[in-house]
Amino acid sequence: MQGRTVLLVIGGGIAAYKSLTLIRELKREGCRVVPVLTRAAEEFVTPLSVAALAGEEVHRDLFDLTREAQMGHIQLSRDADLVVVVPATADLMAKMAGGHADDLASTLLMATDKRVLVAPAMNVRMWTHPATQRNLATLKADGILTVGPDEGDMACGEFGPGRAAEPEAIVAAIRDALDPQRPSPLLLGPEVAARPLAGRHVIVTSGPTREPIDPVRYISNHSSGAQGTAIAAALRDLGARVSFVTGPATVAPPDGVDVIRIQTAAEMRDAVDAALPADAAVMAAAVADWRVANASDQKMKKSRDGMPVLQFAENPDILAWVSGLADRRPDLVVGFAAETNDVVANATAKRLRKGCDWIVANDVSPETGTFGGESNTVTLISEAGAESWPRMGKDEVARKLAGRIAEAL
Ligand code: C5P
Repeated sequence: MQGRTVLLVIGGGIAAYKSLTLIRELKREGCRVVPVLTRAAEEFVTPLSVAALAGEEVHRDLFDLTREAQMGHIQLSRDADLVVVVPATADLMAKMAGGHADDLASTLLMATDKRVLVAPAMNVRMWTHPATQRNLATLKADGILTVGPDEGDMACGEFGPGRAAEPEAIVAAIRDALDPQRPSPLLLGPEVAARPLAGRHVIVTSGPTREPIDPVRYISNHSSGAQGTAIAAALRDLGARVSFVTGPATVAPPDGVDVIRIQTAAEMRDAVDAALPADAAVMAAAVADWRVANASDQKMKKSRDGMPVLQFAENPDILAWVSGLADRRPDLVVGFAAETNDVVANATAKRLRKGCDWIVANDVSPETGTFGGESNTVTLISEAGAESWPRMGKDEVARKLAGRIAEAL
């Protein structure tokens, strides 16, 4: 948790006092805690005590002109690694489920692109009320993580479920939520629907390879690694442990995956070999077909005797090799095909030639603008046939493909 930032939304309930212990525990673990108070929360804890414990300014107002000018509430919700709501009152949960954005807390929760963990706490009747249970189901379906509530004596004198989880349990849930690779017993229960690949291992290859000519020169290609990176992130978001084997791509690798950096096709094959076994392999890399067989270990010099002659040797076909493994073949092997014409026929032939289960065929004819662009036109080829997807962003292709992989596994 060292160096991570938690945006802590404190709701207006009696359990707000637990947020004070939580701040102390998180700070002890090296976390930065940026506190946000709802109006109702201020009736239970003072902004001063929250600010003092967090060592941070307390954010309270949506319409704060100075702050908007300096940073803005959208930025606040994006700078954090995780958003945590303690206590998540019945009202806050209803607002979240309904998509309201009429104060700072609810607006941040709508604007964030990070995981959100809520610790519900309320009177037992309010907790068991069909409206709250309906909202809870909506939040879970939206991928919101929950911790608690516990069952026990309540401040209102009743007994039952509705007590906020204890700070230690919330810290444990935060630790798990910050580590997307760790399927957590706390997060696994009801969230399985949102994390169907929890406990699964997927290898993703991405980016170009670089084949040396001599110590300072190489042969490579223009692959940016954008599609492979998006796929790795989408698989991670569904709970998978991802081994991301990447050549020198221009797009940075996603957080929360095991990054294995390689240069050559031979190194990529060795890295995939070392990462096996896996439940699925997605080969999105643009592997150089050839390497220079007579690469020099010293810089080649210009010479009057004429030009150097490069000889080529064929690189290992990693996709075909993984698909043909007898004992360690992943259950699902997915390859890519970049085609400019006869997309379905060519990709169908490629699927059979490589021995993989699916081919994601890209139409890269110049008029599509797929190369280096943000979007992609994809046909998914499997044993069942060809399925054309409408043109969509590379992130959307990645999410759809990750969803299909989850279904297939
Ligand atoms: O044969 P072609 O390069 O068109 O096949 C593309 C697919 O095969 C991609 O999934 C790519 O990652 C994979 N591939 C590979 N190793 C190679 C060449 C291609 O894994 N040497």
